[in-house]
Amino acid sequence: MTEKPITASPMTEMPSRRSFIKLVAVTGAAVTLGGRVAAQTASSPAKSGDLLVYQDGPQKGQVVKVADLKEGAAVWAQAVDPATKKPRDAMKSGVVIVRLKPSEIKASSQKNAVNGVVAYSSVCTHQGCPAKEIGSIGQGKGNIICTCHGSIYDPRDNATVLGGPAPRRLPALPLKTDAAGELVAAGEFTGKIGPK
Ligand code: FES
Repeated sequence: MTEKPITASPMTEMPSRRSFIKLVAVTGAAVTLGGRVAAQTASSPAKSGDLLVYQDGPQKGQVVKVADLKEGAAVWAQAVDPATKKPRDAMKSGVVIVRLKPSEIKASSQKNAVNGVVAYSSVCTHQGCPAKEIGSIGQGKGNIICTCHGSIYDPRDNATVLGGPAPRRLPALPLKTDAAGELVAAGEFTGKIGPK
């Protein structure tokens, strides 16, 4: 597949891989639930029943609600153990969450979606940079992009690779909602996280 220039949406500033790793190192201790700071991280990927909280931006640490998501936009989140209130490993449990028109979601993604919302691992399968934004031009438009080397994933079709050097799709995280409309993991990631 050919690499084409892609442009990220201006939602967030893209960190370098080094700064991302640094961010990952501190994010776990920074996640809050109901104002409480979780002092330690639970070093594991997301598990069924985990809450999903914003990993950056002004809502960092708050649980993601379906009603707060804009169609066609992405947010970056990570899983939190609901019992201990500890965040899971910020990298292994990191997800890019995208709200789509339900009619756009292909059969391959429908079983893991809830109310038009899908979630995939945010660890690019090429070299592990964060794939957490939606492109705004070219082949990346409306798709999940990794700006390190231009990999493009289709959020409507189980994050299949549309372009760039990524060797395989992003694994999905099955979703459900609780009574408050908050996003909850309905299972574990459907495949291996990150590069081989
Ligand atoms: S790490 Fe994502 S394209 Fe290379």
